[in-house]
Amino acid sequence: MGVAEFYGRWAALYDRIATAPGVARWRRAAAEAAADSGDTVVEMGCGTGANLPYLAERVGSEGSVVGVDITGPLLDRARERVVALDNVSIVQADATCPPLAEADAVLGTFVCGLFEDAAAVVDDWCDLVGSGGRVALMDATATETFLGRPLNPLFRAFVAAGAPGSTPGDVLRAPFGGFDGPLTRRVEASRTALAARTDDRRYETFAAGFVGLLSGRVR
Ligand SMILES: C[S@@+](CC[C@H](N)C(=O)[O-])C[C@H]1O[C@@H](n2cnc3c(N)ncnc32)[C@H](O)[C@@H]1O
Repeated sequence: MGVAEFYGRWAALYDRIATAPGVARWRRAAAEAAADSGDTVVEMGCGTGANLPYLAERVGSEGSVVGVDITGPLLDRARERVVALDNVSIVQADATCPPLAEADAVLGTFVCGLFEDAAAVVDDWCDLVGSGGRVALMDATATETFLGRPLNPLFRAFVAAGAPGSTPGDVLRAPFGGFDGPLTRRVEASRTALAARTDDRRYETFAAGFVGLLSGRVR
């Protein structure tokens, strides 16, 4: 099953998870890390638009927000969410070939782990914003924190359950290791690519270290 078919099928459930209590704090932090007042900010892989109200508030009436995603049913929910927000538009497109020529900032949350060549995608996003622009990436990985480490098996099962193409057997085997390997490699590649292109970097963690937010300003 492809990414768009998978997320399209689970749109309603995904939206509940994306807006679960406690997640708002991460989303506000991501909007603040990515954009400034007056910016044009693009959210790549915006899903049901859970970040869009925070981005709209952050850039204000002088700025604009563009939400990009490939999955139609998720974007239907995103459009409902932003119907009253004049500074937000939604585009169905592939985030690996951005449908815009320029922007001040890019945000990608929980999306880099889905890209085969996440480093190349982040590199392109840095080119899109150009020198002085900001790129922010928020992703989940297993954690080495004292509080989080005992929960890593649960995290691995969650990753398996949420991965396009995984089987019930994958979910059952996932706690014993391995399944989150590709996700971790892609997230690490995306962070390394961002670090190579940016200064003024900030890194914050949430959820006992399972969620990391890295942002930087392109040189
Ligand atoms: C785990 S969801 C995250 C959604 C949203 N960023 C959030 O934080 O709730 C991953 C999203 O990436 C989208 N996606 C995956 N590959 C994509 C691509 N190549 N171009 C655009 N969107 C993509 C999926 O459709 C899905 O909405």
